[in-house]
Amino acid sequence: MLDGREIVLGVTGSIAAYKAVLVLRELTAAGARVTVCLSGNARHFVGPLTFRTLSGRPVLDDLFDPQSDAAVEHVAIAERAHAVLVAPATANVLAKAAHGIADDALTTLLLAARCPVLMAPAMDGGMWDHPAVTENVATLRRRGVTVLEPDSGALASGLSGKGRLPEPAAILEALRRVLTPVRDLAGERVLVTAGPTREPIDPVRYISNRSSGKMGYRLAAAAFRRGAEVVLVSGPTAIAPPSGVTFVPVETAEEMREAVLRHAGAATIVVKAAAVADYRTKAPSATKIKGKHDLTLELTPNPDILREVAATARGAFVVGFAAETHDVAANAQAKLAAKGVDLLVVNDVSQRGIGFEAEDNEVALLDRWGGHRALPRMPKAEVAEAILSHVVALRAARPRRVSI
Ligand code: PMT
Repeated sequence: MLDGREIVLGVTGSIAAYKAVLVLRELTAAGARVTVCLSGNARHFVGPLTFRTLSGRPVLDDLFDPQSDAAVEHVAIAERAHAVLVAPATANVLAKAAHGIADDALTTLLLAARCPVLMAPAMDGGMWDHPAVTENVATLRRRGVTVLEPDSGALASGLSGKGRLPEPAAILEALRRVLTPVRDLAGERVLVTAGPTREPIDPVRYISNRSSGKMGYRLAAAAFRRGAEVVLVSGPTAIAPPSGVTFVPVETAEEMREAVLRHAGAATIVVKAAAVADYRTKAPSATKIKGKHDLTLELTPNPDILREVAATARGAFVVGFAAETHDVAANAQAKLAAKGVDLLVVNDVSQRGIGFEAEDNEVALLDRWGGHRALPRMPKAEVAEAILSHVVALRAARPRRVSI
């Protein structure tokens, strides 16, 4: 898959730069022709000679040294590259790339590149979660750059958390996917729901839940990348919708139901990752509730949107989610039958590090033909890809539901 491909390996000034040597070895072993390009700070960690020796090619480093290949070559190399892989990518280079700053060989090459770009971040504890980094990553992803989620574990500072460079094998796998985009959902119309719903108590308060929308947004982005027309119906979230999808913002379960039913008729695949509030207040107050007295709210169940869609959108393949905290297997089996869906994605949201708000998820896939597949813990983007691949495989193997 990488045989003969021209890859630029960008290396930045991170303690994880030594792992770029392993990435380079895996790339060349897979048959790629690799040109290494160093950021201004990378040489503090690993010298150009190492990369030059292992790649068998000159290294692009000092943009302003007239003797350096980088001074004249970086644009031509960017133009002939099949992909640029930046591993490790520091918070600094993510910020520069997001803002179009070109002040060294690597950032200049990134501006000149017209090929797919993949970035594998590595940084110390807390940095990955900083709002500035989050926004820069979102900007890059919106522009089509693939930014991998860092791994969790021990960090160079002695802290533990999210920020480790993903393993070289995972980086190469991601690069293969970037170079050969799957278009197996071309011609499909995918309806995805995401995020929480908000059920008003009064004009300033509401009942809701902890859904961030990440799972649903990753599904919508993956379906779009795989060629589908995508409608994303989303409750309120703090994340930007993926580019290319038709975005339908809603607030309450009633609004979500209306939007879902409006779009479900045209959909060939429906994926309901939203965490719909099961109850709403029976009579929300028109004015702010005052006072410090005991207060009883009368709740009434919200409509079960998933069950309604599964019963009415007979031509569509319907995927539901199950967020469980106990008796997971039994509750999931019961939900599969009760909702009438083709596939149920089950997550145990009592586990730390997965489910609500987390970057990762760990799910089991239960289908209505008796199939069961457990997936390992992965970043939600990868879980999304795996769910969609499973849907494609099931649809190919199983007859469609038809109206009687
Ligand atoms: O958004 P994130 O922070 O990334 O978190 C992801 C997630 C935990 C929200 C997601 O992985 C998930 O589990 N989504 C479903 C949450 C949920 O509401 O589960 P449930 O078991 O209560 O509902 C089962 C299914 O019925 C879901 O597909 C839900 O969308 C649907 N439902 C539920 C109630 C209702 N009134 N109408 C519905 O359509």
